[in-house]
Amino acid sequence: MRQLIAGNWKMNGLTAEAAAIAAALRRGADGLACDVLVCPPATMLSTVAHILVGSACAVGAQDCHAESAGAYTGDLSAPMLRDAGAGWVIVGHSERRASHHETDAQVQAKARAAARAGLTPIVCVGETAEERAAGRHAAVVAQQLTGSLPPGFAGVVAYEPVWAIGTGRSATEAEIAAMHAGIRAELHRLLGEQARGVRILYGGSVKPDNARALLGLPDVGGALVGGASLEAAAFLAIAAAAR
Ligand code: PGA
Repeated sequence: MRQLIAGNWKMNGLTAEAAAIAAALRRGADGLACDVLVCPPATMLSTVAHILVGSACAVGAQDCHAESAGAYTGDLSAPMLRDAGAGWVIVGHSERRASHHETDAQVQAKARAAARAGLTPIVCVGETAEERAAGRHAAVVAQQLTGSLPPGFAGVVAYEPVWAIGTGRSATEAEIAAMHAGIRAELHRLLGEQARGVRILYGGSVKPDNARALLGLPDVGGALVGGASLEAAAFLAIAAAAR
């Protein structure tokens, strides 16, 4: 399966910057050996989707509500995101799990809603520094997978250790290889044969200078890139390191 390099812009940029990055990606994504995806803030989704239509770079959202419509002031449903041009959506990012207190059950409901609306969900999991220090990282991630993946899940999983996000300190190659093997085993337990089609991305301080090594590890199906995705050249350099 092709690797997927997904950019998560988080709450950054305004339309002018988003449009400039999207235009650069439109030119630069052609002919890459991997799949590429950018997830801008929702207000810029349709602008970015418009610029990237028909290009090799797909567009996604950063979160969705579990319901498709209703009295949820300020929230955005999966059908709305699809309507704005998204084909993918990140759910359960650790920043949402932490600052919005999202539970595994809520993340699972969002992943279901995404699939119902025709979006491919990218479900994020990952342990905190304290959980790793206590030797609980494998159990924590297994529990997140069990709670967050709906039956018959056909999306993407992103392993993002919380301590590696935005810190400039990625997990080591050994840590990533061990965790991805554990996630693959857990996916088989939960999904059976269907697990084969699920790519496992690594995220947390992926940069052009460590991308080739990280993307070369067994069962790393791509990367979820935060900071480095805000610069088209850096993001494309990471994508160029993929298979
Ligand atoms: P980072 O963020 O690449 O800036 O560490 C990754 C993420 O949060 O998806």
